[in-house]
Amino acid sequence: MSEILQPQQSDAQLKNYDQLKETFHWDDIHSVFSWHETGNVNMAYECIDRHVDDGRGDHPALRYADSSREETYTFADLKGATNQAAHMFRRLEVAKGDRVFIFMPRSPELYISLLGAIKAGAVAGPLFEAFMNEAVRSRLEDSEASTIVTTPELLERIPYTDLPHLNKIILVGDQVPQDGPFYSYFNEMKASPTTDDAIEWVSLEDGMILHYTSGSTGKPKGVYHVHHAMIQHYQTAKWVLDLHEDDVFWCTADPGWVTGTSYGIFGPWLNGVTNIVRGGRFSPDDWYHTIEKQRVTVWYSAPTAFRMLMAAPKEIIEKYDLSSLRHILSVGEPLNPEVVRWGWEVFGLRIHDTWWMTETGAMLICNYPSEPIKPGSMGKPIPGVHAAIIDDQGKELPPNEMGNLAVQTGWPAQMRKIWKNETKFNEYFSIPGWYISGDTAFRDEDGYFWFQGRNDDVIVTAGERVGPFEIESKLVEHPSVAEAGVIGKPDEMRGHIIKAFIAVRDGYEHSDELKEEIRSYIKNELSAHSVPREIEFKETLPKTRSGKIMRRVLKAWELDEPAGDLSTMDDN
Ligand code: WT7
Repeated sequence: MSEILQPQQSDAQLKNYDQLKETFHWDDIHSVFSWHETGNVNMAYECIDRHVDDGRGDHPALRYADSSREETYTFADLKGATNQAAHMFRRLEVAKGDRVFIFMPRSPELYISLLGAIKAGAVAGPLFEAFMNEAVRSRLEDSEASTIVTTPELLERIPYTDLPHLNKIILVGDQVPQDGPFYSYFNEMKASPTTDDAIEWVSLEDGMILHYTSGSTGKPKGVYHVHHAMIQHYQTAKWVLDLHEDDVFWCTADPGWVTGTSYGIFGPWLNGVTNIVRGGRFSPDDWYHTIEKQRVTVWYSAPTAFRMLMAAPKEIIEKYDLSSLRHILSVGEPLNPEVVRWGWEVFGLRIHDTWWMTETGAMLICNYPSEPIKPGSMGKPIPGVHAAIIDDQGKELPPNEMGNLAVQTGWPAQMRKIWKNETKFNEYFSIPGWYISGDTAFRDEDGYFWFQGRNDDVIVTAGERVGPFEIESKLVEHPSVAEAGVIGKPDEMRGHIIKAFIAVRDGYEHSDELKEEIRSYIKNELSAHSVPREIEFKETLPKTRSGKIMRRVLKAWELDEPAGDLSTMDDN
């Protein structure tokens, strides 16, 4: 029996989930958007200009802060600035469908450039600022980008002389080289009018954004999304983020990752709320300070961040007034029940898990402020989406059986292609009617989905299927364990045995006694067949920048094999 936590919000935007699930159609909300009548579609217009047209031009849209800068932009300010950026791109001959990359640290210019590019009809390609030369090169090469907006500091990581398609480099900064394909962002913006005649009206199925993501093998894939996604960004931001007009929303993700665009830009701005952007690196003090100072009401982050906050001394959190918060959400990796309990203890709020992927473009399986939560579960599909657990032949499996987490095709934000890689794209849809996520999960008798691991991470040991997440979650509940990654290690007798890599908390020794203690803890808490036969202590574990433990790298260490593409690995 799993624990059930009752909902806290009586005025949540999502009401009558069970009924809505039966009756809702995506077409029902087309009338929210002006293109429903005018036929003029553009994501950037719907995010920004529409609110000015609706008389909310003075409402703060973006509050930006880093250690040296603090700025507020209203919707009217952003309308003018993104129009200028659209004019800038047009003057530089960016045409509809061209790929315009944005490669810089979080700043107002990043958000203005990205929306300006979309306004001009381009496909925006955000690149995380920490990417080094090879990662930058492979993405610009594959996408054949014509234009990039970057900073003088990052220029040395762009091998532009080897990239024949890349002929415009717009630099956000003072030092702009005289010769070569360089343009000054600030000069170009100054020379551009704020009028809205630079908006390219497109169709719902025209390209809007290209996010590169690594698979478990091969080079990064360009996941291509279209303007149509706005319908789902808008609606999930209501149902799941529960955004109301006066909310102050903070999504901590960088726009280099899909969370940082779908919910760091589109979801909140389609709903006209104030969006907080914090530049610079993570520190617990700084994050709590941001919530207190900006009076953040809705906060969307990731389990790793919560775990880092959890590990920080209690005195830190006690210094801040965090009473503005009313709703907290998580994405990207399994949300351990331990973290949910911590959230309840320190904020008096449930942390709501959400499941989706770069490829899905928007949230699909979620916990809602209006529905009970089962800690450790990802929740239930949003209305308008049918998810199921299927076997390799496409047969739906009964409750509590592990299998492929799959979604019936046709939700609005679904990727439309993998850039120049139809084969890869088709692999996701190899079973007719279904999108195969690559995740393994089960659904319980109440319709809640429980994540078990990536497909290739599920461990079969002595004939038993074991999900690594369950073990990892339990391991991090042990007082000595800071981080844990679990893999299956090939074994003649058992098929696989369970091996755990563990980083211990300060004050604990890498001793055999501790290994034994951890093993008997797992045996007592989970089961004998879940016990890691092998434990190896590490100083830190390999993680992606979005915080996922890279089991693939652990496996490669274990088997003494090359670890493959490491461009998304966090190196600090
Ligand atoms: C993979 C997609 C889209 C947001 C950021 C990650 C894992 C995502 C959860 C969750 C357990 C999760 C899955 C998925 N994942 N959300 N709530 N619980 N796992 O996007 O980098 O495209 O990764 O992240 O394995 O397939 P991404």
